Amino acid sequence: MSKARLLCLTAAIAAAMATTFPAQAKKQQQQQQQTTYGTVAYRASVLHFTGDPAVTQQPYEYYEDGVLLVGSDGKVKTVGPASTVLAANQNVQVVDYRGRLIVPGFIDSHVHYPQTEMIGSFGEQLLEWLNTYTFPTEKQFGNKDYARGVARTFIGELVKNGTTTALVMGTVHPESVDALFEEAATRNMRIIAGKVMMDRNAPDYLLDTPETSYADSKALIQRWHKRGRALYAVTPRFAPTSTPEQLTMAGKLLQEYPDVYMHTHISENKSEIAWVQELFPASAGYLDVYNSFGLSRKRSVYAHGVHLREDEFASLASTGAAIAFCPTSNLFLGSGLFDLQQAEKHGVKVGMGTDVGAGTSFSALRTMGEAYKVIQLHKAFTDTPADKKPLTALKSFYLSTLGAARALDLEDKIGSFKAGNEADFVVLNPNATELLKFRSAKATSLEEKLFVLQTLGDDRAVERTYIMGKRQ
Ligand code: GUN
Ligand code: ZN
Repeated sequence: MSKARLLCLTAAIAAAMATTFPAQAKKQQQQQQQTTYGTVAYRASVLHFTGDPAVTQQPYEYYEDGVLLVGSDGKVKTVGPASTVLAANQNVQVVDYRGRLIVPGFIDSHVHYPQTEMIGSFGEQLLEWLNTYTFPTEKQFGNKDYARGVARTFIGELVKNGTTTALVMGTVHPESVDALFEEAATRNMRIIAGKVMMDRNAPDYLLDTPETSYADSKALIQRWHKRGRALYAVTPRFAPTSTPEQLTMAGKLLQEYPDVYMHTHISENKSEIAWVQELFPASAGYLDVYNSFGLSRKRSVYAHGVHLREDEFASLASTGAAIAFCPTSNLFLGSGLFDLQQAEKHGVKVGMGTDVGAGTSFSALRTMGEAYKVIQLHKAFTDTPADKKPLTALKSFYLSTLGAARALDLEDKIGSFKAGNEADFVVLNPNATELLKFRSAKATSLEEKLFVLQTLGDDRAVERTYIMGKRQ
């Protein structure tokens, strides 16, 4: 039946009910109004973080029978036990998700939308992988229609996987970024993105210049930064594909627009690090290259950092820059094992990232599951295994929600259910598959339930995604 016919039929039934059962009709009308405009109580188990589990004694709030109360403005009003919140809000519409778990929408701290179509490209490590697969793929994004099609698929995958915010690399083409922001705006989704700046060591068809990269990035900042929920990131791809002149331009943009982001890669692969030393012989290391162009500060996000030295972790902490930990990518490209405990020791902000298409899944749950394995392997290969602890599920859920929000300097907007935050959230179903159901039934603690979800779960466990209170 067509939507129009269905609406007519519904209206006819409502009219008939109004005559026959006036009380029910009134109630139904009120409910419809509340559905569209009112405060809504989402009843489920509800979990969110208030601190870092590695640092804080009681880092989360968890309500086994809880309510997340969302206002008509799409913002969190409150969260708490169902009995208390419902007693205090008797006229609100209740959406019953009992048996499921509501958590804040996942945040992907590093991902490449143009690489959606090349996930799972075989056999290479970083530098060969870029030349063989990545650059030819990214060439196509000079065509805006093409970019729009991929952007739509990409945003659809984020939503399916419960990801409501992402820090995204486009390609060198400004139209790739327009396409992404336009697509995200159709869902009112918070996306941080930027045009890649690269003026050397890539095929000619992907190169810009210091001047054009500056002008194009500036125009994009003026067009998109803080428009709706969009935010802009100045995006030099990585040190090897930018001349010192271009990195100077990136620094100039950050000076001119202090509240934009800086997004790049660092210390992912040993050959890459050696190459950076050749290209910047006067530098004291990979991070020093970026530091010397003024690129490290709050809202600077470095993907990977697998092989960072201890003094580099200390430097990141002192500048307020963050790392995106991308476990599926680091395993897939054979890059190495990130030392999360070093980051913790130095107080460096970390968010979880998928790094699709080197990363192998859009799923935050899958990414957390692989992060656990990376940390297990790190312990196996370190000289000081006794000092290394396994990655808890509490910590990995933190890294994909509040931790990532802190890494992106967005803690006052997303990542937790603090009153006034934007109500981006996910409804997870611990019984989504037969195996999940079978295994979850044996899980006795919250930590075990989360660990089972991240070990066995994927997009099938994401029952619903809400963006600013709107069901997707
Ligand atoms: N370093 C520079 N470019 C890239 C990229 O596209 N993916 C990854 N994983 N690392 C990079
Ligand atoms: Zn990347």
